Amino acid sequence: MFKKLMRGGNNETGVQTLPKHIAIIMDGNGRWAKKRGLPRKAGHVAGANTFSNIATYCNEIGIKYLTVYAFSTENWKRPTDEVHAIIDLLKEYIFKGFDRLSRDKIKINFLGDTTVMGDEINGLITKLTSMHKDDYELVCNIAFNYGGRAEIVHAVNSCLSEGKTAPITEDDISSHLYTSGQPEPDLLIRPGGEFRISNFLMWQTAYAEFYFTDVLWPDFSKKEIDKAIAEFQRRNRRFGGL
Ligand code: FPP
Repeated sequence: MFKKLMRGGNNETGVQTLPKHIAIIMDGNGRWAKKRGLPRKAGHVAGANTFSNIATYCNEIGIKYLTVYAFSTENWKRPTDEVHAIIDLLKEYIFKGFDRLSRDKIKINFLGDTTVMGDEINGLITKLTSMHKDDYELVCNIAFNYGGRAEIVHAVNSCLSEGKTAPITEDDISSHLYTSGQPEPDLLIRPGGEFRISNFLMWQTAYAEFYFTDVLWPDFSKKEIDKAIAEFQRRNRRFGGL
């Protein structure tokens, strides 16, 4: 739908643009499962399926970067069986090489510390993330064991370990984030009815447009993405200017 709707008006030139980078907090899996009398794990399975469909759709309509929040540094506080369920689900996708997405020329990338997944999985992650080196249409970042504050601290420490001294600049930090070299998200979507950022992409969303909806993530459809993009295209982005 949006390939046809790219002209119209949300930047200073009056040209309505597709967001280049969409970030999503995939919230509401647990409540989706509860409503159906299912274990929370079933909600995450349904959420992972929605993730695949939405990534494919984002690629179809010409989005260039998609970042999803799969597991935060704070999610370790959840019951062990739920933590394992989410990690096992991710491992399953990694074992299968995110098959459908890889076939669709979607380049998978991980943000966060994946070392907790062990050597075998990290070997597969290295293989997976080096696929489609120059031959991809969409970059899909999966934030796993990720925290926005931890990422900023990591960036500063990387600058220091390279011998940089004060003053450390914004460019220094940006170029040492996990998303280094990528455009910042233009649009951050949070389904699930909560209105917070939950330590997600704290640096990169400084000028993102936020879109919240009550729809639970497993129910999030192409239509919902279309709605979020339409709302984005109605926004007047000034980046601090007039
Ligand atoms: C938040 O919903 C969701 C998570 C903490 C996990 C998200 C993980 C997935 C969708 C699976 C990821 C898999 C791949 C392949 C990317 P919640 O459980 O907090 O929902 P609630 O607020 O309704 O309890």
